Amino acid sequence: MNLIEKADRLRKRKNRVPISALTAYDYATARLLDEAGVDLLLVGDSLGMVVFGYPDTTRVTLDHMTHHTEAVARGAKSALILGDLPINTYPDPQTAVANARKLVKAGAQAVKLEGGLRQAEKVRAIIDAGIPVIGHLGMLPQRVKEEGGYKKKGKTHDETQAILEGALALQDAGVFAIVLESVLPKASRLLTRELEVPTIGIGCGEGNCDGEIAVITDVIGSYPWFVPPFATQRADVAGEITKAVKGYLDALSG
Ligand code: KIV
Repeated sequence: MNLIEKADRLRKRKNRVPISALTAYDYATARLLDEAGVDLLLVGDSLGMVVFGYPDTTRVTLDHMTHHTEAVARGAKSALILGDLPINTYPDPQTAVANARKLVKAGAQAVKLEGGLRQAEKVRAIIDAGIPVIGHLGMLPQRVKEEGGYKKKGKTHDETQAILEGALALQDAGVFAIVLESVLPKASRLLTRELEVPTIGIGCGEGNCDGEIAVITDVIGSYPWFVPPFATQRADVAGEITKAVKGYLDALSG
């Protein structure tokens, strides 16, 4: 099965079975998530924060992404591996294609980029090169500095229509799904209804999109210093690490 066919299997899940997606940045986590049956593993540029300790995603480079994509690709056998094109790596169609190819060479089976109308031409060029693309609309973390923080989107009719316009442009360009980030529930439902491709939500409320994506450290509680208010933590890995290491230290000191 080629990359476009694998991506198409997820596209066809619209209005059928919800798409499950999580971020992964390393071999072991990718293998665990893949074996648990997650549909899509995103090697997200959120690794800037939760792996490298940067304040946001704006310092992430393509080298960071290829390094971690290689590790995830070694761990995942079934899930679709989605590589994030980091900031400044898709300024024009030609550069976007060249960098998308580097992610695919590292093991990605599709790429994701942020933005709507202004990205449509680049999306089309990447897809013409045989690489499936997922769009990302709503809150765009690569623009957090210009935005002055992480803000909810779809608060007004005009804002929702602007997101819809971008989403339709991405859909026309051929994306097989669109991540919606921090879009208010009513706007998320409208976008999900209007689009033919699946929407995959994060911070959009439960059940308002065709699938959900979450940052793995939020789900397992391994990055306790910042947890977004919308995240549902399902384990306390940070607490377990602290407990295990204290036990190790106690055993050493007798
Ligand atoms: O990098 C990332 O983790 C993401 C998700 C927030 C969708 O883009």
